[in-house]
Amino acid sequence: MADASAEKKLILSGIQPTGTFTLGNYIGAVRNWGPLQDEYRCLYFIADQHAITVKIEPAELRKKTLEAYAQLLACGIDLNKSLVFIQSHVPTHSQLMWVLNCSTQFGELSRMTQFKDKSRKHPDDINAGLFDYPVLMAADILIYQADMVPVGVDQMQHLELARNIANRFNGRYGETLKVPEGYIPPIGAKVMSLQDPTKKMSKSDTNPNAVILILDDKDTIIRKFKRAVTDSDTEIAFKEGKDGINNLLTIYSAVSGKTIEESVKEFEGQGYGTFKMAVGEAVADHLAPVREEYARLIQDKAYLKECYTRCAGEALKMSYRTLNKVYKKVGFVPTELR
Ligand code: TYM
Repeated sequence: MADASAEKKLILSGIQPTGTFTLGNYIGAVRNWGPLQDEYRCLYFIADQHAITVKIEPAELRKKTLEAYAQLLACGIDLNKSLVFIQSHVPTHSQLMWVLNCSTQFGELSRMTQFKDKSRKHPDDINAGLFDYPVLMAADILIYQADMVPVGVDQMQHLELARNIANRFNGRYGETLKVPEGYIPPIGAKVMSLQDPTKKMSKSDTNPNAVILILDDKDTIIRKFKRAVTDSDTEIAFKEGKDGINNLLTIYSAVSGKTIEESVKEFEGQGYGTFKMAVGEAVADHLAPVREEYARLIQDKAYLKECYTRCAGEALKMSYRTLNKVYKKVGFVPTELR
């Protein structure tokens, strides 16, 4: 009998275990992953190999990787429908990366904005991994022949590079790698900092008030929203120049399921204080079940281990299909060892 799941289109995405997920990670990416599971075959992973491109203590990385794994499950990813694994458990990603490196130009990697930003932030450690990171990301995607990659706006440049690499490889060796599409959510593809709404909300922000973490408790969430930077105007409207209010309206709409227009209407004539409080309450209530589920899962290390081991095994098997094809195309002598 044909395997029905083999006919479904394939979705793949990953997240770095560099800290508790932010509301940006959640709205821009992770919360969209669960609802895709029925229609698509989904693979999600914790990008621990990407995380070592900046300095991180080994014990901290280990702890954060497990925590990130539990957070993904708590965000509604169902292991009966999707595979959720840890990147370093599936060595084929970095094996493919080597081959793809040889179809990637120095110039195109030099243009990656994230590379430029991180080089500026860590001038004492501009390592080759930081430079090459987008090729590993391309390999993560192309090794499974993914059809679609749900990410926030900040990852679109990397995704475009992955498409270029796939096209270049196919042009040189013949049709081998599927060229993936990006999937950007209609609302919240770029959630901004609460303290500087012209900047992306980021795990690495040093100001804790700038970032909502998905495991923050209700009081903390409300306090951070109360302190959110807005403007000296009084009108709750989605307009150019009102970055703070636009961001709060985006967040509110994303967690309430309302459109921006409906949200604007709801708060018409109200003060910023009342509005910020309402956004805080809505976010806290929305995240409460995630926090509860996470608290339960993180206690059960044996269960987590069983899950990530099984999923990595299945992902590895799937990924060998592409790796073997690629190795053959480039002219490596076949072996029975894989
Ligand atoms: P990472 O860990 O930085 O972020 C994970 C996901 O969260 C999205 N995101 C946001 N979306 C909206 N607003 C924000 N403020 C915000 N901050 C983060 C990101 O766009 C991303 O979708 N390189 C990737 C991980 C990765 C990957 C992959 C993703 C590795 N290999 C293959 C897709 C496919 C990263 O560092 O994401």
